[in-house]
Amino acid sequence: MKRVFSGVQPTGNIHIGNYLGALKQFVELQEDHDCIYCIVDMHSITMPQDPKELKQHILDVAALYLSIGIDPKRSIVFVQSDVPGHAELSWILTCNAYTGELSRMTQFKQKSKDKESAPAGLFCYPVLMAADILLYDTDVVPVGNDQKQHIELTRDLAVRMNGKYGNMFVVPDGRFLKSGARVMALDDPTSKMSKSAPNAFSRISLLDTPEKIKKSIMKATTDSEGEVRFDIENKPGVSNLLNIYSAFSGRDVEDIAAQYAGSGYGAFKKDLVEITVDAVTPIQQKYEEIRQSQELLDILKDGAERAGAISEKTVKRVKDMIGFGAC
Ligand code: AMP
Ligand code: TRP
Repeated sequence: MKRVFSGVQPTGNIHIGNYLGALKQFVELQEDHDCIYCIVDMHSITMPQDPKELKQHILDVAALYLSIGIDPKRSIVFVQSDVPGHAELSWILTCNAYTGELSRMTQFKQKSKDKESAPAGLFCYPVLMAADILLYDTDVVPVGNDQKQHIELTRDLAVRMNGKYGNMFVVPDGRFLKSGARVMALDDPTSKMSKSAPNAFSRISLLDTPEKIKKSIMKATTDSEGEVRFDIENKPGVSNLLNIYSAFSGRDVEDIAAQYAGSGYGAFKKDLVEITVDAVTPIQQKYEEIRQSQELLDILKDGAERAGAISEKTVKRVKDMIGFGAC
């Protein structure tokens, strides 16, 4: 079976963009892949985090993983900092990455642009991500479109290391969905839906109440034309809502647009509220059960042991190949 690896940062507010772009694929892939899903707390400290909140957010994401249908018996679920191999491999890859290629990463450019000085960790973020992936001999990485550049860098690093040292790493492929791969902010469909945007109505979090979901969708930016039609360039707001509708319902955007032809935005938005509420309600019910349970901690401990066993072998192989250590 092919190996799948992916990760989500424990930074709160997991939204429908995360779900439709990445998390939903995680569940589907379990059917015929050997899956490893990580909570990447080491990535999250590239931005300031409150220690108490960080601990809670780690458990929130773990509980969400299980609530959406990730089965800890079939897949490995664990926290990145519980497995030392991520930091070890990251350093080795850092020494083989170029500052030029890292400074071209759009995420780094965006996150550092208004700062007088940025943490070096933010600059090295994609190298740690490459270490996460290569540590498990990963074949497939399901992520949202915004991670494309990081996956390319991971592939480049794997190829580079293989060229230098022999057969060190599996070269992984990204897996991106057609609809949902890039969910845009509801108040500004030209920027992606994000966990950290100040306006809470710009996103729909997986744990939002039906009232909040309704308000967010009814307020969502559209245009004055009044026609439900998919046209990203001229109608980015409506197209984004169509995309979300399509991803939740499994229906084609054209088919959905045809259903609302001539009926304005009201009915379309109302139905989208219903579809979204129906999709998140069962997730929220499970979440309530799991979040406070001891079982959650047991699952993460077991996951760290299983991930640790796989990663130790890779770290040993890599260290041997580069000539590290004395014992
Ligand atoms: P992060 O919150 O940055 O850890 O992202 C977790 C996963 O969600 C990654 O695979 C991202 O590519 C994906 N993701 C984040 N924001 C969006 C979005 N607005 N649309 C689609 N996918 C997203
Ligand atoms: N950088 C990813 C994001 O922000 C999270 C991540 C870290 C990741 N390590 C990973 C995703 C490894 C896939 C594989 O979304």
